[in-house]
Parts: sequence; structure tokens; C-alpha cells
Amino acid sequence: MKHWRIEDIAWDRFDPSAVDPEILPLVKAAAMVERNGRDYALYLGNVFRDDPDFRRAADHWAEEEVQHGDALARWACLADPAWDFAAAFQRYRDGYKVKIEADASIRGSRTGELIARCMVETGTSSYYSALSEATAEPVLKQVCKLIAADEYRHFKLFYDHMHRYLERENIGLLTRLRIALGRIGESEDDELAYAYHCGNEAPSFAYQHRRCIAAYMACTMAFFRYRHIERGTGMILKAIGLPPRGKLSFVATKAAWHLLQWRHRRFETQLAA
Ligand SMILES: [Fe+2]
Ligand SMILES: [Fe+2]
Repeated sequence: MKHWRIEDIAWDRFDPSAVDPEILPLVKAAAMVERNGRDYALYLGNVFRDDPDFRRAADHWAEEEVQHGDALARWACLADPAWDFAAAFQRYRDGYKVKIEADASIRGSRTGELIARCMVETGTSSYYSALSEATAEPVLKQVCKLIAADEYRHFKLFYDHMHRYLERENIGLLTRLRIALGRIGESEDDELAYAYHCGNEAPSFAYQHRRCIAAYMACTMAFFRYRHIERGTGMILKAIGLPPRGKLSFVATKAAWHLLQWRHRRFETQLAA
């Protein structure tokens, strides 16, 4: 059972005067990445081919991600009636392929795969929390709150399965840390940058990773507040098996916050150039 449905959203409360032009391109990009969720479920189905419980959970998870994409796309079409989501999504699908075929996880273990999924859900949970607080548009606020709650439940889903595998595979803390940081770094790869391009730039405009990731990140990072980073850091520490609160978390949050500020300034400089 999904926790909410598109019809539950109060679409009639949409207020065009409250649409933030800085947020709209982010929503368009996010709609496509979310809508693409089923491909990840196919990949996970291959990695966990002999684990029917997890495969069922992953299929359900993908349907929730697809619903996130549908809800965000519907909002973006209200905010920009000229936007053609179907055409933009087709361009995205044509140009960005998730590697579905796999005999084993690209992370080297099933535990590693699930830690990587926890990192993605930490990122999305923080991201939609930040967007819901940043926007004054009531429908987007509601959509982002609902999605953020789903993303947190997804984190718990992957975390619980990860623990099951950790008992069997017993991979070390340093490996878990390396996988987690590696997956966080991948947020600057093509997945989001190309979605930004397809959602916001004309097909005649050539895709350039450096420009698109700078545009996406410069805008996104502006909406994060310390509390989002604090909560996200706690989730990351928990996923790799470290205490989510206490001195380590305090220091790690400070470091992550400074890193975010530094990256934000760098992306803004790149964009200006
Ligand atoms: Fe999602
Ligand atoms: Fe999710």
C-alpha cells in the first residue's frame, strides 16, 4: 500500500504567484530522475535475484519513486503549462541509461549496494525537506513533505535489509565508509545533470556536464540549512554503523556544512564563468 496518492494532493490550492523560479528547474529535473525509478528496481532485482522478500520490497519502492516523479511533473506543468514533460522525459530516457543487467552489485557486495541506496534516500529525504521549507507555494510544499516522508521510510527499508546482509557478509567499517562517500560523490555525475538539461534546456542546446551540474547544484545547495545537513549526517553515520548522535556526529555535521558551503561557492563561480 502506498502511503498517499496523487489524488490526495490539494491541486486546487495551487498559487501561480508563489512559484519560485529558482525552484521550478529543480522540480523538473527531479521529476525525471524519480520517474525513472523502475530501472533501478530491475537492476536491484538482478542483484538480489534469490531474495524474493527484498525484490518485492524493491518493486514497491520503485512504484513510490515513480509516483514522486508523477506528482512533481504534474506540479511543474501547473507552474509552467508550456512544459512538455513527456517529451523531456523521453529525451532523458534516450540519453541516460541505468545499467540494468548485473550478476552482482557494482558496490562489491549486497551490503554495499544497500548502503549506497541508503545514501540516495538520505539525499532525497534531506532535499525534499529543504524544498518543502523553502517554497511558499502550498501545493509544492505538500508534495515535497509527502515525498520527504516516503524517502525517510525508504532509508529505513534499505537500512533494515542492509543489516540482514551485514551479518552474513561482515564487510569492514572502512569499506562501508568508502562506499557511502563514493555514492554521495556520484550525485555530481550525469544522472541529475542530464535531467537538468533535458528538463530545462532546448534540445538544440548541447549537453555539457560541467555547466548543467553547476546550474543544478548551485541552485539546490542554496536551499539547504544546517538542520538538514545535521539530520542527513546522522542518517549517513547510522547507515555505516557509527553513532548518529554525539561528538562524532557534531564534528561530521560541521565538516559537511563547510564542505557544502565551499562546493556551493565553487558551483556558483563555475556558473558565472
Ligand atoms: Fe523519490
Ligand atoms: Fe526514495
